[in-house]
Amino acid sequence: KTIEPCVVVIFGANGNLSRRKLIPALFRLDVAKRLPEKMAIVGCSLEPWNDDQWIEEVSGMLQSRFPGGLDEEVFKRFRARLHYHPNPPGSGDAYQNLQKKLEETPGFSPNLVFYMAVRPSEFPSIIDKLGTVGLLKQNKGWCRVVIEKPFGYDLLSAQTLQRSLYHHLNEPQIYRIDHYLGKGTVQNVIVFRFANILFEPLWNNHYIDHVQITHSETLGVEGRADYYEGVGALRDMIQSHLLQLLALVAMEPPVTLSAEHLRDEKVKVLKAIRPITQNSVHAHAFRGQYTAGIIDGKPVPGYLDEPGVAPDSTTETYAALKLFIDNWRWAGVPFYLRTGKRMAENSSAICIRFKSPPRDLLRHSHRELPHPNWILLGIQPDDCLKMEIQVKVPGLDLNTRTLSLDATYRKSSEEDYDAYEGLLLDVMQGDHSLFLRIDEVEWAWRAVDPIIKVWAMERGFINGYQAGSWGPRGTYRLFDNEDQFWRHSLNPEGGDLQ
Ligand code: BG6
Repeated sequence: KTIEPCVVVIFGANGNLSRRKLIPALFRLDVAKRLPEKMAIVGCSLEPWNDDQWIEEVSGMLQSRFPGGLDEEVFKRFRARLHYHPNPPGSGDAYQNLQKKLEETPGFSPNLVFYMAVRPSEFPSIIDKLGTVGLLKQNKGWCRVVIEKPFGYDLLSAQTLQRSLYHHLNEPQIYRIDHYLGKGTVQNVIVFRFANILFEPLWNNHYIDHVQITHSETLGVEGRADYYEGVGALRDMIQSHLLQLLALVAMEPPVTLSAEHLRDEKVKVLKAIRPITQNSVHAHAFRGQYTAGIIDGKPVPGYLDEPGVAPDSTTETYAALKLFIDNWRWAGVPFYLRTGKRMAENSSAICIRFKSPPRDLLRHSHRELPHPNWILLGIQPDDCLKMEIQVKVPGLDLNTRTLSLDATYRKSSEEDYDAYEGLLLDVMQGDHSLFLRIDEVEWAWRAVDPIIKVWAMERGFINGYQAGSWGPRGTYRLFDNEDQFWRHSLNPEGGDLQ
């Protein structure tokens, strides 16, 4: 698809997301010659910079992101796109001035993207001010607004936020981003399921024992305590990214891959999640908070000792859930979701465990315990697809062992695009397929709201887990059967207990 010339305005241009993801992604798109020639980037933040100071900043951001050096010619092209607009909170005319800048700067296209890379509490007031000065109208060109997650902090606040957006915007203008949907392997779940005939007949409660969806990271809060405190792992990762993964794994084949068809199917799955009641929260959810430990051989502080964290905080840095999808295909199959900061490894994966054959004819031949089939979809660090099957061990005896059919198609060391690159292109192209519709967001909140409520009431205690471990041991109580366990590793010999 062609991209029309446009101006991308980034609110929060000096923030973490913009520095680490958005600016580098736009630069790489320029390297890949995917940006239209007449495309400008306007950084907006509180700093009283001028264009040259902003260009200096951007150059620093890019150098730290690409230490190998920048292509001179591309950087020259890129810096010509850069403009800055100071946006101090108290200044009454900042938005009028922005409007003037966008309308009067020679060469600026009337097509506008506003990217809200700011704290969620600031979304409504920025949109309101943009609307008031008429910048959200689409008379001369199109206007799109990208809203970062979290969209609200529960169902009610998400609906309130939505109403405030609808004062100035209509649905096709809104791009609710979930960067997980921009990851190659996440899209590969769709390819794997629907471009192959082999797996779909097995993709149901007759053959699947349970599904695990994990995101673990070794990083802590990394100076983001002001955002993370009071948000916690359940809202930060599960309500958004992990429930999206669940929807892709569990949805019915969509009629087409168009944005509406795809999102219709995801919503159906989210609606079918069995509601957790306040009484059943303990059987379905577990939370924890990291204590001091060792990561990559170095001691790291516990969560409570991180700067900006309240000394008695019970914000969870680890959350695990058991969910059921009450529909025909998935009746009775548990979906286990977990995420944590300061865990043993950086890893995101979907692990699908199949049921055992109806009769174990080879009972005496297993060297280890009989091992059911698994399909493992690694999202990061490697993009991989592995299938574990049983084979005969060479030799005179009929012994079996687990063999992993490894269809890894990208190692982490191999270059790939970043999720934000693809998603920014989609916004500029007007493609909503990988963005969330409001009903998806609402149903995802409905799934986690009861847990949020109960955890908010239980402020007195939270389970600890040592930084560098696989999380609190108590999470094992979520499993339905004794032979279920967390898959920590995608290698057969390592797929075991903590
Ligand atoms: C973000 C969360 O949405 O996703 C972070 O706010 C988390 O807390 C991050 O670290 C993980 O994303 P990725 O792409 O690094 O797996």
